[in-house]
Amino acid sequence: MKNNSLENTNSQRNILITGGAGYIGSNIVAKLCHEGYNCVIVDNFSNSYPQTIEKLVNAYPTNIKVYKQDILDSAGMERIMEQEAIDVIIHMAGKKYVGESFDKTDEYYSHNVVATRNLLHSMEKLGINKFVFSSSITVYGDCGKEYVDETTPLHPLSPYAMQKMECEEEIACWRERSHGCAIVLRLSNPVGADTQYMLGDNSKNKGQQGVVPFMINRVLSGEPLFINGCDHPTKDGTTVRDYVHVQDVATAFTLATKYVIEESDFMHIFNCGSSKPGYSVKDIICEISNVLDKKVEYSVGPRRAGDVSIFLSDISAISSTLHFAPTRNLHEMVQTHYEFHTHLLEPLMPPKDDITIKDNITI
Ligand SMILES: NC(=O)c1ccc[n+]([C@@H]2O[C@H](COP(=O)([O-])OP(=O)(O)OC[C@H]3O[C@@H](n4cnc5c(N)ncnc54)[C@H](O)[C@@H]3O)[C@@H](O)[C@H]2O)c1
Repeated sequence: MKNNSLENTNSQRNILITGGAGYIGSNIVAKLCHEGYNCVIVDNFSNSYPQTIEKLVNAYPTNIKVYKQDILDSAGMERIMEQEAIDVIIHMAGKKYVGESFDKTDEYYSHNVVATRNLLHSMEKLGINKFVFSSSITVYGDCGKEYVDETTPLHPLSPYAMQKMECEEEIACWRERSHGCAIVLRLSNPVGADTQYMLGDNSKNKGQQGVVPFMINRVLSGEPLFINGCDHPTKDGTTVRDYVHVQDVATAFTLATKYVIEESDFMHIFNCGSSKPGYSVKDIICEISNVLDKKVEYSVGPRRAGDVSIFLSDISAISSTLHFAPTRNLHEMVQTHYEFHTHLLEPLMPPKDDITIKDNITI
C-alpha cells in the first residue's frame, strides 16, 4: 500500500545521482522513484547504455531527468545542480575495476579522486550539503582480519582502493568545512538485478566482470570453471566472501538518503554487505547449477598467493543506525542475474549507445 504523505514529502526532494545509468546507480534510482523522490541522473555513459534505463525512465516520466554529462566538467555539473535545485547528491560515477586501476592509474585518479573533489567544491559553492558516497570494502585490503568492522585499520592494496580511501578523506574535510552531512557506504560485492526494469550489471568492459556474472557466462558458453584452492579452512575448502543483492544495496542508499536529509553536520562510514556467514565459491557453483538446471563442471588448482580464506564485512553499524537488513539470498542473486543476462537484456541491447530516451535526455 502506498504511503501518500511520505510520497508527498519525498516528491519535494531532488536527488542527483552521478553514474545513475550504471549498475548500482540505476537500481538506486528505481528504489528512490518507488519512494516518490525526484531523480536527476548524470552519466557520461562511458560504462553504461542509455537503453538500460529506458524502461525505468518510461515508468517514472515525471520523476526522472537524464543528463549526458561528464562529472569532471564542473561548470556543466554546477549548471545542472542549480537548474534542478538539488537537495542531495548520491555519488556513484567512477571507474571500478581493481585490476585496470594498476594499468590506468592516472585516468582512475582523475575520474575517482579529482572528480569527487570537484563535486564537493561545487556543492560547497552552491550550498548543497547532503552527500552519499559509494566506497568499497577493498579499502580494508590486507588488514589481517576475516571479519571487518568500520574500526578496522585500512591497508588498501590497489590504486582503486587507495583512491576510495582518499575520497573518504576528502569527504571528511568537506564535511568539516561545510558542516554538511555525509554517509559513506563501503560496498562489498553487489550481485543480481532488478528484473522489473531490467537493471543489471551490463558494464561495457565485459573482461572485468564480478565473480558471479563471470561464472555464469562461462557455464553458459560451455567453458569449465576453475577453483583456486579447495584446502582453505572453510566449511567446504573454498574461499568465502560477502555478496549482497544489488536491490538490497539500493535500499541501503535510500535509507542513507533519508538520513542525510533529516540530520545535519555529521559523517558516518558504514560497511554495506550481507555479513555472516557469507557464501563460498562452491555455494555459488551449486546455486548456478540449480538455477541453470545443469551439472556444472569445474577443476581445482592450487590456492592463489595472497588469497584470504574468509573476508566478510560486519554490518552491525549500518543495521543499528539506518535499520538496514538485507533480505535477498544467493539464490535470488544468481536467479535475477541469469534472468537479466539471458531472457531480458540481450534481445533489447543492440551494440550502439546513441539512442535518445524520449524527451528526458539532455545532451
Ligand atoms: N560493482 C561493484 O562491485 C562495486 C563494489 C564496491 C564499490 N563500487 C562502487 O560503486 C560505484 C558504482 O559502481 P557500479 O558497479 O554501478 O559501476 P558502473 O560502472 O556500472 O556505474 C558507474 C557509472 O558511472 C558512469 N561514469 C563513469 N565515469 C563518469 C564520469 N566521469 N562522468 C559521468 N559518468 C561517469 C559510467 O558510465 C557508469 O554508468 C562506483 O564508484 C564503484 O567504485 C562498486
